[in-house]
Amino acid sequence: EGWSKPIYKYKRYWYPGNYLPSVISFQQQFQAEDTDIFVVTIPKSGTVWLKALTYAIVNRARYTPSSNSHPLLTTNAHSLVPFMEAQLYLHNKNPDLSKLESPRLFGTHIPYSSLPESIKDSKCRIVYLCRNPKDVIVSFWYFLQKFGAKVEFDQAFELFCKGALPFGPYWEHVLEFWKLSLELPQKVLFLKYEDMKEDSNLHLKKMAEFLGYPFSSQEVDEGVVDDILKLCSFQNMSTLEVNKSGRADFDGKFANDIFFRKGKVGDWRDHLTQEMVEKLEEITKEKLDGSGLML
Ligand code: PPS
Repeated sequence: EGWSKPIYKYKRYWYPGNYLPSVISFQQQFQAEDTDIFVVTIPKSGTVWLKALTYAIVNRARYTPSSNSHPLLTTNAHSLVPFMEAQLYLHNKNPDLSKLESPRLFGTHIPYSSLPESIKDSKCRIVYLCRNPKDVIVSFWYFLQKFGAKVEFDQAFELFCKGALPFGPYWEHVLEFWKLSLELPQKVLFLKYEDMKEDSNLHLKKMAEFLGYPFSSQEVDEGVVDDILKLCSFQNMSTLEVNKSGRADFDGKFANDIFFRKGKVGDWRDHLTQEMVEKLEEITKEKLDGSGLML
């Protein structure tokens, strides 16, 4: 109750009702390949950015990042790296994935515990991006406003704290991937939006290495790392025509511009009351206690 559309709980997590069948089809049908790469987030954690960076890294031999015909200049990142539950399996129980370029790149918001077994059993890799919960709830609320949702910020905040946001609870989602990244560092790379913003260069190199596409020193000298960061920057992506006026090819109704707002760290300072900050920090402290993760 409270969001513009009802959400339902399935195996401890909340899902938008229209995505639930696709989450289950994906879970039951999908066969992972060792070379697959999954970009995983809870909504509003920087998914578009991560998708763009991943796409640019693994395809750089094919598409030069500085080229003025790079696919990211004319295609929204959600189309280049489709969401399992919101694109591929949404209207098709068994989508044809055979035409995807290798390595196959996929996005999902589904928590690890509900991913298909074949993802767990294969050597495919997962890049997980998390963002501090205060900015996530602010970003999420603005996102809902773009759909004309009538939810007040206070109400959205309370639902977030209760864990009842799509693909939430937030903390459980993040913790699943955090723990896994410690147990299986070759399987899961755990990144934070704030770290990526602070030292983009270092984290892009980490990503490339983890994905099996490390930058050579010649590439670094030639500025390839910087070219990718520039191509995928908020400044660049948010001003591209495709992202200003285009529509993403999922769920029928998403205009690409709704995925770009401010792209900053700390916007929560202008939106959360002191009381809200304390409440969220208290919950976060309690949930992450003993995990070694700081958010
Ligand atoms: S979604 O719906 O889950 O796919 O949305 P998601 O992409 O996770 O989150 C949207 C927020 O990410 C910001 N954004 C970016 N940040 C940095 N770099 C780039 N290139 C970028 N593109 C989008 C976007 O502005 C949203 O955050 P807020 O705080 O609302 O600005």
